Amino acid sequence: MQSFTAIIPAAGKGVRLMPFTRNIPKTMLCVAGKPILGHILDQVKELGIRRVVLIVGHRKEAIVEFVRQRYPQLDAVFVEQPEPRGLGHAVYLAKDVVSGPCFILLGDTIVDGDLRPMVFGGQNAVGLKKVDDPRRFGVAKIEKGRITGFVEKPDNPPSHWALIGAYSFLDSKQLFEALAEVIASGKTVKNEIQLTDALSVLLQKGVSIAPVPMNDWLDCGTVEILLKTNQMLLTRHAAVPEQAELNNRIIPPCWIDPSAQVSGCTLGPYVSVAYGAKLTNCRLEDAVVGPQTELANKTALHVILDKFGSK
Ligand code: G1P
Repeated sequence: MQSFTAIIPAAGKGVRLMPFTRNIPKTMLCVAGKPILGHILDQVKELGIRRVVLIVGHRKEAIVEFVRQRYPQLDAVFVEQPEPRGLGHAVYLAKDVVSGPCFILLGDTIVDGDLRPMVFGGQNAVGLKKVDDPRRFGVAKIEKGRITGFVEKPDNPPSHWALIGAYSFLDSKQLFEALAEVIASGKTVKNEIQLTDALSVLLQKGVSIAPVPMNDWLDCGTVEILLKTNQMLLTRHAAVPEQAELNNRIIPPCWIDPSAQVSGCTLGPYVSVAYGAKLTNCRLEDAVVGPQTELANKTALHVILDKFGSK
């Protein structure tokens, strides 16, 4: 079988995360020691996928530099989405550089669950999770264990099964053709060309798409969810350099980058300190400190602190 190409749409502006996203794309915000994109690329690598197409836009240079420096072993291709026309449009832009099977993971989303059945299951698949109120998501209609319909952000959802933002297709050409149909029809939802509508086109053509349940997903679009993502990831991979443990009180789980200078601080639980940060006499709990951020005598709880501000 031809190997999978991962497509990662990462052009979003992250408007709800201003001021932190003024100079970097949302996917470059650090949680638990590395950018969201780093966590996603680690998942992609674990799946054995080597070829990655990133759809970039706002502050794309930050993504290009990060991927080239930190993931030289990946065959990464960057495609620009010049204007925000929706997820369906972003994925469609990959059509000239992707053939064979593809696996799509959204650039602002960290999935908690086993992605292997999606990639190695030998069928088209979407990751789903049951949620109380699915109206802000794409929703799958399921009958007798099979997906029989899709609808994006419905007022009257046909089920509680939300699309979590992970999709795999054995034949990317079929997907791009379905997206071309959606684009040609002029159909949009919330003014955006939707990937979910291309899934509906595929179903109408008799193409089956299997449901794969996931534990959870964190769509890092708001400060609240970013902090929740930080907590979830720290619970899995916390790390504190020895020197930080000598000069400070660290309440685990925390992640402190070895290049950060931390002294006289009480940190934790759930504090991440990114590279190049300098913290003196601070007391932080449930907080994300961004790269090269300098803080002194600061006490804070449930916040993102960055050289561009705090929230
Ligand atoms: C996108 C998809 C939606 C999916 C969601 C998952 O929506 O269009 O179908 O349920 O991601 O997070 P967005 O979050 O971009 O509005």
